[in-house]
Amino acid sequence: MHLPDYKEARTRDIRSYKRVNFKLDEKIKGKYKGKKFFIKTYGCQMNEHDSENIEALLSSIGFEKVDSYLEADLVILNTCSIRENAHNKAFGMLGRLKHLKNENRNLIIGLCGCMAQEASVVEEIMRDYKFVNFVFGTHNLYQLPNIIDKAIEENKQQIEVFSREGDLVEGLPVIRATSYKAYVNIIYGCNKFCTYCIVPYTRGRERSRKKEDILQEIDELIKDGYKEITLLGQNVNAYGKDLYEDYTLGNLLEDIAKKDIPRIRFMTSHPWDFTDSMVEVIGKYPNIMPSVHLPVQSGSSRILKLMGRRYSRESYLELFDKIKKMVPNVAISTDIIVGFPGETEEDFLETLDLVNKCKFDNAFTFIFSKREGTPACLLKDEISTEEKEERLQRLNEVVNKYFLENNKKLEGKEVPVLVEGVSDKKKMYFGYSDTNKLINFTSDKNLEAGEIVKVRIKSAKTWSLDGEIVE
Ligand code: SAH
Ligand code: SF4
Ligand code: F3S
Repeated sequence: MHLPDYKEARTRDIRSYKRVNFKLDEKIKGKYKGKKFFIKTYGCQMNEHDSENIEALLSSIGFEKVDSYLEADLVILNTCSIRENAHNKAFGMLGRLKHLKNENRNLIIGLCGCMAQEASVVEEIMRDYKFVNFVFGTHNLYQLPNIIDKAIEENKQQIEVFSREGDLVEGLPVIRATSYKAYVNIIYGCNKFCTYCIVPYTRGRERSRKKEDILQEIDELIKDGYKEITLLGQNVNAYGKDLYEDYTLGNLLEDIAKKDIPRIRFMTSHPWDFTDSMVEVIGKYPNIMPSVHLPVQSGSSRILKLMGRRYSRESYLELFDKIKKMVPNVAISTDIIVGFPGETEEDFLETLDLVNKCKFDNAFTFIFSKREGTPACLLKDEISTEEKEERLQRLNEVVNKYFLENNKKLEGKEVPVLVEGVSDKKKMYFGYSDTNKLINFTSDKNLEAGEIVKVRIKSAKTWSLDGEIVE
């Protein structure tokens, strides 16, 4: 048994991790043939991609995926800790599973993901959710087949959570959600320790994968016909810093862009590590999509300092302008938090002003949520809930106005779209443009998911655009 511990999770660069290749324990290969599993994923793309690995690990020991937890012999919740509501959703689901388990004593239940890294969550599960058969942490994913086997064979709750980063495991099997879009991890963890954020505790220090391993994975995806690759990391711009003297995200992007892959995306970018040479590379290659997610969090330098973001309002705006200038046709999206402890009306107005300057193409807006164990959790939070909700609403009105304004500029234009959804009956399709906008369009031709087509935009809405295929 390994229990999570924040004190350990805070310790960085002390114990070096190993790079190892995954090997399935032959004794349990296919052992659970005929059994069915259901997985529910909360949180970010990192979790979605982890679930693709989990699916493949489960299938290697014989499990088969089903779409409803009511039909499953095994249910796994891949959880997220980023805000309180993500937390509450997972506990709500556990409540439902408790009833199900009362009816079916053989049901196996597992919990993983970022909540598994929280000591208080694991304590609660051990105390009040004894029906949960196993918990495994984000660093223990590769051990899943053996953890399940042990939970079933010993009929005893298993808790396997390493608090310091575990080994960097290559060669994990994967069953991808589609045959045309793929996630590729390039860096794990986060060293930034923004004062509000739980991720550095749940995902460990920054560990880059070797460029050879990444490029090899991409070569295989190209061979398999993938059209779009999204490079993943909590902070992709820090890629390589822990591993190489002079090989950065810019170099990696360039090496990938020279390959025969139509679309490359990357997320998430921290403004702090964004160098000029990275911006140059993004602007230079047409297969690097002109879409940058650049979370600002606040428009007030005072609040940014309290958040530990290590850039100011001015330096953010400078970087923003540079990207706009150097990357043709670029769309920039962002994340914003309102109601950070101590945020005054003036600070908030600075955020609104920054939004009015940047006119973001998309923005994810949040109310500050206290996360236990983070420094901001200890700050005095005197803003009332009503005030925070009111700020969020005012902010949303402004950001939405610019989504529509930016989308309107595309009316009458032709944009490339990667087809995702196909409905043969009405000849209606949807997909995403190069700038990552959702496009609904009609076509007389029969299209396949994964094709890239040209669409003429007829009308713009706030969150999507309507168009028709160009003959
Ligand atoms: N690594 C990314 C962000 C990952 S979390 C980055 O730094 O850019 C995604 C978003 O969740 C963050 O950008 C932030 O806006 C929001 N977030 C993180 N912690 C939060 C908290 N405690 N309360 C509210 N929002 C939070
Ligand atoms: Fe969290 Fe900041 Fe790291 Fe992003 S950069 S994951 S917000 S600590
Ligand atoms: Fe959530 Fe963990 Fe991602 S906290 S946002 S699932 S890294």
